[in-house]
Amino acid sequence: MSNRKIMIMPGDGIGPEVMAATMKVADWLAKHRSFSFDTMHGLCGGVSYEKHGVPLTDETMADAMACDAILFGAAGDHRYDNLPFELKPERGLLRMRKELDLYANLRPAIVFPPLVSSSTLKEDVISGLDIMIVRELTGGTYFAEPRGREERDGVVYAYDTNLYSVPEIERIGRVAFDLARKRGQKITSVEKANVMHSGVLWREVMTALHAAEGDGLEYENMYADNCAMQLVRQPKQFDVIVTDNLFGDLLSDCAAMLTGSLGMLPSASLGDIDPATGVRRSFYEPVHGSAPDIAGKGIANPLAQLLSFAMMLRYSFDMGEDADLVEKAVEKALESGKRTGDIMSPGATETGTDGMVAEVIDALDHLAR
Ligand code: NAI
Ligand code: MG
Repeated sequence: MSNRKIMIMPGDGIGPEVMAATMKVADWLAKHRSFSFDTMHGLCGGVSYEKHGVPLTDETMADAMACDAILFGAAGDHRYDNLPFELKPERGLLRMRKELDLYANLRPAIVFPPLVSSSTLKEDVISGLDIMIVRELTGGTYFAEPRGREERDGVVYAYDTNLYSVPEIERIGRVAFDLARKRGQKITSVEKANVMHSGVLWREVMTALHAAEGDGLEYENMYADNCAMQLVRQPKQFDVIVTDNLFGDLLSDCAAMLTGSLGMLPSASLGDIDPATGVRRSFYEPVHGSAPDIAGKGIANPLAQLLSFAMMLRYSFDMGEDADLVEKAVEKALESGKRTGDIMSPGATETGTDGMVAEVIDALDHLAR
């Protein structure tokens, strides 16, 4: 079989720092396990704007399409805040999501035992937490037409549309059901069927899908506002939450905070299987942004990026064992007491990006013995 091709896109801010740290673990795997891969490097975000005047060129888009998976850092910087909408760094990211048709965004929220005290919630509420939020990523409020801004009778209006079709709801539903089968066997479908037409359709379609294909899976519908409350009240009631683009954006950030730090949170975005390559289109990135406030200081937590890489091994390359190994090494590295600033706790020793990844590699060396 020819080598896997991975598109590496570090992006802006801390992106290049946490990506470089992650590549050290990739190199470790190449050396010690049967992980062989070809990498391409591409620009996306402010770095691309600086060089080419656009956040993503057509050539880079085509290269990304030709790869088996994309590993992304982060895009954006406040210095681009006043650029026209289409030139903003984040547009490069949105374009990739749209053109690769990455409709399923997977955001795990897992509390690593050594970090249980870094959450703002009480330990008994979050210890052992392991939930997965599946967010629809290509439809709804952020993409659907009509959207825009106009003046009517001297008054300015702006509007977006929360539009979903039955096939769009079904395909995201199937991704969530599949995941639940491999996890805790439970699905919570989230919308606002009480006040939104799109919510009524979402509930109808998900409920029917569960009846037709959800054999043995526990299933419930929940309103999005209640879900927000339940996430901070009793998050362990959930296994897989499936929801639309807008609610998923908010709820996944809320779930993120249960675990303590943005610096620990990976994500995957999946599309359909590409008929040309037989590989599912996929994009992996940390949940955090480019963190311009700490960029260039060598203090960013590299673990969200590294855990995104582990998700890539698991979901794109069927390398669950290697993914487990990396995740186990992260847990061991945290147990050692070394912490980046964002996850510091009393008694721990503060280290930087390189120190943290060195600890992970140490743990890999031990685990591989
Ligand atoms: P952010 O996630 O970049 O930072 C929020 C806070 O968390 C900051 O205080 C930052 O220092 C801290 N933080 C984030 N990641 C960290 C890490 N790995 N280690 C330690 N601390 C970390 O969000 P913010 O500040 O709202 O946005 C900054 C820029 O990033 C903006 O231009 C925004 O548009 C962009 N952004 C890009 C995303 C992406 O590429 N997917 C997602 C979110 C924001
Ligand atoms: Mg968000």
